[in-house]
Amino acid sequence: MKETSVLCLLFLISLLSCTTNQAHLTVSPSRSQFFKGDFVSLSCEEDDSSAGWTLRRNTSKRQRTQCGDGWGKPAGSSCNISYIYTSDSGVYWCESREGPISNMVNLTVTGGSVILQSPVLPVMEGDDVTLLCKTKTTPSNLPAAFYKDGSLIRKQPTGHMTIQHVSRSDEGLYKCDISGHGESPSSWITVTDKHTTTPPPTSTPPPTSTPPPGSTSITLPPSLSPPLLSVLLLIGSVYVVVLLVLLVLLVRRSVHRKPKG
Ligand SMILES: *[C@@H]1O[C@H](CO)[C@@H](O)[C@H](O)[C@H]1NC(C)=O
Ligand SMILES: *[C@@H]1O[C@H](CO)[C@@H](O)[C@H](O)[C@H]1NC(C)=O
Ligand SMILES: *[C@@H]1O[C@H](CO)[C@@H](O)[C@H](O)[C@H]1NC(C)=O
Repeated sequence: MKETSVLCLLFLISLLSCTTNQAHLTVSPSRSQFFKGDFVSLSCEEDDSSAGWTLRRNTSKRQRTQCGDGWGKPAGSSCNISYIYTSDSGVYWCESREGPISNMVNLTVTGGSVILQSPVLPVMEGDDVTLLCKTKTTPSNLPAAFYKDGSLIRKQPTGHMTIQHVSRSDEGLYKCDISGHGESPSSWITVTDKHTTTPPPTSTPPPTSTPPPGSTSITLPPSLSPPLLSVLLLIGSVYVVVLLVLLVLLVRRSVHRKPKG
């Protein structure tokens, strides 16, 4: 009976991944700005291991190059850049042989001494977002000024600011400045709509309010728009539940039929 439950679970998982066909691009450490010389690891995480996702990028110099082709070191499903250069700035994505692409990520590498640590992945409407302004050399946080679309929005003595309950109007180009050290590059913060199918914010803590030291991931359908995806997911879930019930009934019947001893 144990084996059959495990089988059921595997079946459920594989069905779910079939209905969603997701690709994830994760960045570790999870941020969009880096100092020259930093270590960065990017990975294409696939639900269906046969899909064969490849990490690609566009920089100002070359387009659509893949990991290992003059940059990065393929390491399993990851691509490690052990010493990132300013010329590694660009847009990164995962692409399958069949064509669908994952979420895209903008990475900016500075030769300067200040970076803005902002979410590298889109943030969900209603979440809290913490921005941190950091220098390369000073370990402690210094007072910083934060700008959105070129105008000063806040001066913070602790070097970080939190935008509570982000909305679409918070979307924009952010940068920060530390007196005596300089200005960070600018990075886009993208805000995505909250889906009607997602649980209320009280049951899921916003991932951005406490940025994990490791990597975060986002899942985007390769070609489907969010409302269509929700409908497909709903249909998929109903389908899975019906199949599971049928499977459990079948297993029960066969177990009962077995002669004892
Ligand atoms: C990358 O560059 C190619 C060729 O210039 C272009 O067609 C494509 O849209 C670019 N992709 C991204 C994600 O910017
Ligand atoms: C790539 O980086 C990961 C850490 O993110 C590390 O565990 C792995 O050993 C690295 N692989 C290579 C080939 O450098
Ligand atoms: C990447 O940056 C460009 C501007 O440089 C912006 O238009 C685009 O939306 C950004 N993409 C993501 C995924 O943040």
